[in-house]
Amino acid sequence: MAVKTSALPWVPVTKNLGALRDAAQACQGCDLFAHATQVVFGEGPPDSKVIMVGEQPGDEEDRQGHPFVGPSGKLLGKAMHEAGLDREKIYVTNAVKHFKFVERGKRRIHAKPGGIEISACRPWLQAELASIEPELVVCLGATAAQSLMGRDFRITAQRGKFFPHPWAKQLVATVHPSAILRAPDRYDEEYELFVRDLRAIAARVDELAARG
Ligand code: URA
Repeated sequence: MAVKTSALPWVPVTKNLGALRDAAQACQGCDLFAHATQVVFGEGPPDSKVIMVGEQPGDEEDRQGHPFVGPSGKLLGKAMHEAGLDREKIYVTNAVKHFKFVERGKRRIHAKPGGIEISACRPWLQAELASIEPELVVCLGATAAQSLMGRDFRITAQRGKFFPHPWAKQLVATVHPSAILRAPDRYDEEYELFVRDLRAIAARVDELAARG
């Protein structure tokens, strides 16, 4: 009989973020736990109006145990600051909570999580969203969008559009900051577009909060 790959058996029935975070450390819902250093759970205030969802922890995040502390996180923080989004007030997490990588000598090279890992980890993301009940969930890149909007969602076509979502009032997707870092010849242009998306997000959060 096939073994079901899912975090569900590890996810406690609670809305307490601290309890969820503690429980996540033991998760063996897919194979990624075997090689990663630790689970990197989301971080931020439990009453955040916005949740930003990335792909998976990178090398730095895996070592430190915190999301978005490496190069992508630094770029994200800079762009958020420019767009008027206070990172301290925003909960930041990932679609997949263990680092997936391949070893090349001493280096650990990021490997993209597949559909099985994304769906196995979705119960943690759902639990975080159910606990926080944000106004807006922001998908950073295709993996987060796939987890929350399905495999047919295309960032290029749907970027910056706001959608209703069962786990938040609205959802919007933009690029992952690593995509900007990977395009040095288009850096300025891509960075400006990213900040423009984040500005629209800041404005929408104020609107949603005012609507109640
Ligand atoms: N990239 C992500 O998607 N998440 C992180 O936490 C770090 C890099």
